Amino acid sequence: MITSDNSKSRSLLLMVAGAKGAVASTVAVAAAVLRKEPEAILPSLTTGHSFPYIGPPQAIYMTGWDNQPTELSGCVKAHGVLPENLWEPYRSDLDATTIFEAPLLDLDLSGQIGHLIKDIRTLKQQYPNSLPVLINLLPAGVQVDLERFESVAALCSEIAPRVFPDLAYALAAIFSKIPVVNFTPNQLEVSAIVREAVKQNVPISGCDGKTGQTYLKVVLASALKARKLNVDGWYSLNLLGNSDGKNLMDPRRAAEKLANKTELLDEILGYPVGKRYGEPCHKVHIDYYPPRGDAKEAWDVIDFQGMFGLPMSIRLNLQGRDSILAAPLILDLARWMAVLQMSGRCGPIPELGFYFKKPAGTNPPLSFEDQIYCLRKLEKECDQKCRKLRSEP
Ligand SMILES: NC(=O)c1ccc[n+]([C@@H]2O[C@H](COP(=O)([O-])OP(=O)(O)OC[C@H]3O[C@@H](n4cnc5c(N)ncnc54)[C@H](O)[C@@H]3O)[C@@H](O)[C@H]2O)c1
Repeated sequence: MITSDNSKSRSLLLMVAGAKGAVASTVAVAAAVLRKEPEAILPSLTTGHSFPYIGPPQAIYMTGWDNQPTELSGCVKAHGVLPENLWEPYRSDLDATTIFEAPLLDLDLSGQIGHLIKDIRTLKQQYPNSLPVLINLLPAGVQVDLERFESVAALCSEIAPRVFPDLAYALAAIFSKIPVVNFTPNQLEVSAIVREAVKQNVPISGCDGKTGQTYLKVVLASALKARKLNVDGWYSLNLLGNSDGKNLMDPRRAAEKLANKTELLDEILGYPVGKRYGEPCHKVHIDYYPPRGDAKEAWDVIDFQGMFGLPMSIRLNLQGRDSILAAPLILDLARWMAVLQMSGRCGPIPELGFYFKKPAGTNPPLSFEDQIYCLRKLEKECDQKCRKLRSEP
């Protein structure tokens, strides 16, 4: 017996750290369009026809924080991801979006967390009956090893927000019992944070969204492996001209992203590419090339061998659009996290490996077929739990 069904009036509330960036501002436009013309966006979602119990997919709102003062529509225009005719009709919706100023950098980590928790309370009051999800879309930062910290208290006493601004957002969300999606390469999924998420019953997913070149790499590597075609070398070049690309020209900021893009190939194949040369032959480069803007271009040269060791090769040229590939995944992940929380999951969700370059959690699925299989299985499990919850008296 279904006792109450408030799923129709429920909405999904995205709270985005970095709400005016290229990806986030594209998400904001997508959410606004989804509310008014669902058919324009729904076909791009992998979850568009799933999870009816969290409300209709068009009931979705974006809010968040950023440290730049330009209004949201100005940021959409400046990023140049979308042609003006697509977003201009939504200008007033965009500029009505609640985007708080990022907390001051002279606050310590505990002070920032406290500030953000207050903002989160305000957002919850603005959107009663919503299912909130924190989405981290801050810029890629310099690597900081947080694994050595035993507890959140130790993190708070030693790490300054300037060094790792993502931490305050993630912890404020976890303390507010809000699930977290970490789309950045910044390593948030460390023991102290995972333990806190488990303690607070909050699911977290990350890291580093798998949008274009790496997505195709997983598909192709899985296909080559299934056919017993031995990969001898793989050269990948990324050209991008958005602010993410510019930021990644700092080698310290690019280190984590390059590691995430590189490590997964050997893991999928089950052997080190380049073994016979005595050095790794999976090379990944990122180059900031302003004429490309957000329309990222990726080149791949894949050398592989067939029977008798005879060489063959593939050339792949992806002319993608970074934020157009990323934005629907953010909407999907927000829906997944709301559902996972509803079904009682907490801590890292390795089954969401399909969406990430470096999935958090134990034994994430590596090959494309395993990732799809895990996703379908997870969906069934969530369906069973959430439907059961709805029918319980
Ligand atoms: N686009 C993709 O395909 C893709 C794929 C995987 C990962 N990512 C990651 O997603 C993240 C976002 O990418 P993007 O292209 O939107 O970057 P972006 O540089 O356009 O946006 C980052 C936003 O964060 C804001 N910001 C910086 N510090 C802040 C702070 N302390 N508090 C609040 N806001 C702050 C900036 O003002 C900016 O608006 C990056 O980490 C990127 O590496 C993107």
